Amino acid sequence: MNDSASVAWRALIQAALHRNRSDPGARYIQLATVDPQGHPRNRTVVFRGFLGNSERILMAVDSRSEKIHHIAHRPQAQICWYFCKTREQFRIAGTLETIAADHPDPQALKQRLQLWQQISEKGRLLWFWPEPKAPLAPSEAFVQELSPEQAILPPDTFVALLLDPMEVDHLQLKGDQVYPQLRTLYERCKSGWQQRQVNP
Ligand SMILES: Cc1cc2nc3c(=O)[nH]c(=O)nc-3n(C[C@H](O)[C@H](O)[C@H](O)COP(=O)(O)O)c2cc1C
Repeated sequence: MNDSASVAWRALIQAALHRNRSDPGARYIQLATVDPQGHPRNRTVVFRGFLGNSERILMAVDSRSEKIHHIAHRPQAQICWYFCKTREQFRIAGTLETIAADHPDPQALKQRLQLWQQISEKGRLLWFWPEPKAPLAPSEAFVQELSPEQAILPPDTFVALLLDPMEVDHLQLKGDQVYPQLRTLYERCKSGWQQRQVNP
């Protein structure tokens, strides 16, 4: 979907990323899921960009982590993203899709490989470490370097995660000459995206 309201919120995020580029935390987002018991679960992940020209948000996660079980059970999720410098919050709700090593679509597997290639050498190590949340393993198990062969292809633990947004809630604490704060809702419906101004 490529109508103007979608383009508008995506452009606002791109502008926020640019204006907050001096803040190393600007690419950290909070991703909330719901566990099988119905309890909310939240964690920080790195925003890895939009998938191509789409509005889908890319993240990189571990197949062994708890969030994967949450998503398999219930794919609905919300991202909360605060930009300190420009004092604005985006809350992006939608549906998550995982692209794991056994994904049937070759195009999706290509996207997973491209995501792996954009991660730094140091960043890739995590997917070779022992199982998340298992009892602490001996320190030698936490590899600090990868062989060139290991680094080329993503290991089976590497999962590309995509959020397909349905609703974007943008709150600007700075406001303009007229209003002290501004809040805009973007909602996806059958005919496309709709945008409306609401009270903060
Ligand atoms: C600054 C920061 C960035 C992080 N980035 C990621 C990330 O990109 N992907 C990821 O899976 N976990 C990332 N983590 C770790 C997660 O917050 C979390 O601890 C881990 O994914 C396990 O979450 P789960 O048990 O809810 O699945 C990051 C943590 C911090 C503090």
